[in-house]
Amino acid sequence: MTSVGATDTRFALAENQAWELAEEFGTPLYVLDESHLRSRARTWKAAWPHGDLSFASKANSTLAVLRIMASEGLSIDVASEGELRAALRAGVPAHQCRLHGNNKTWEEVSFAAAVGVGKAIVDNFQELELWQEANASLPLLLRLAPGVDPKTNAKISTGQADTKFGFPIADGQAMEALRLAIESGLNIVGFHCHVGSQLLDPGAQVQGGVQLAWFARAALNELGFVAEVINVGGGLGVRYTESDDPLPIPEYCKRLYAALSETLSDSLSPELAQEPGRSLVAESGVTLYRVGAVKKPALGDRYVVVDGGLSDNPRPALYGSRYEVRPIGVTGPGVPSRVSGKHCETDLLFTGLTLPEDLGPGHLLQVLCTGAYNSSMASQYNRYPRPATVLIRESGRADLVQARDDWESMFARERLPEDL
Ligand code: LLP
Repeated sequence: MTSVGATDTRFALAENQAWELAEEFGTPLYVLDESHLRSRARTWKAAWPHGDLSFASKANSTLAVLRIMASEGLSIDVASEGELRAALRAGVPAHQCRLHGNNKTWEEVSFAAAVGVGKAIVDNFQELELWQEANASLPLLLRLAPGVDPKTNAKISTGQADTKFGFPIADGQAMEALRLAIESGLNIVGFHCHVGSQLLDPGAQVQGGVQLAWFARAALNELGFVAEVINVGGGLGVRYTESDDPLPIPEYCKRLYAALSETLSDSLSPELAQEPGRSLVAESGVTLYRVGAVKKPALGDRYVVVDGGLSDNPRPALYGSRYEVRPIGVTGPGVPSRVSGKHCETDLLFTGLTLPEDLGPGHLLQVLCTGAYNSSMASQYNRYPRPATVLIRESGRADLVQARDDWESMFARERLPEDL
């Protein structure tokens, strides 16, 4: 596939670096590269001078990542009190945070109001009441459901007509929410939508943004409301394998901006905001695994079993996601192979691969493009410790930024009643 998006921008470890890191920190290991992260953040900042650029921290809320993104001038999109607390612990000022969530609790709303988050995005009528009760004066955006189907994996589609997110535009609920919010004195400043993830071109995000722009014009006409902010969410995809060919960030942003600005009338010139997650961090990270067993089943491709699995990368099991797997220092002739994890179920990680015949116990594999939605979605299934994260600093030094679970932390939540 060749197009403007055909450049491979993924970070990968050199072989000697991979051996050194595995030796020092053990495996499985998440590795992030600081220079790569900063360069992605700078590319995004330069490509989007039209308003707030937020990092969607659900993609990776390791404190070091949050600090890097905030220091590059991005605001931080947090989807829960936990993510907000992570940002605060990373030293991000509350006013630089944007609070999301489709079922915020009173505790979350009042905590966010008390610490002074910069903006919050309101999802539903019940939440409008919570912000009123909190007597909050912070700027609020209404999350709207634009009825756009992004044609990506159904599990990461959020803008289509039957979505659970936001106020539907089509049946008038969005206008009703705006009217109520204005009447109740809430500080509504604009509108938000997020249509889906791993989008390779801006088509769906444009459609969502255009719906928001039309809605903003209708709100001006019907209620005299002047939108100051239109936030079109995140979604730009990354190169998991060679068959994913996302537009480069500047081109994606250029096309998105052109379509949005064309739709807005002269009477409205809101700030245009975006909040990418995956595109900022996925390609900056790799996961290192060590091979254990290798076996040929009675039927089908050879199994190469690694020391991780769906607890450190649930994405293949959840979404059928594919990744590029590179053996370290083994180059023999390839044989059809699949990589599975060590969990007590199928736990197929990567399939349809051709890996060197002489790959065996003790060898290392690096899996590219695992900086987003791996660490943040990791679990302790089968009581496996979640991996550590190492940040390769700009100086080349490797700093541990998230420790591997140890047995103490693994059992810290347990309470055994004395009379049990
Ligand atoms: N803003 C909102 C309101 C979102 O819900 C999301 C993602 C983003 C921004 C960032 O989207 P991104 O740029 O990362 O595509 N666990 C799934 C991804 C779920 C994304 C949900 N929302 C995965 O591993 O693919």
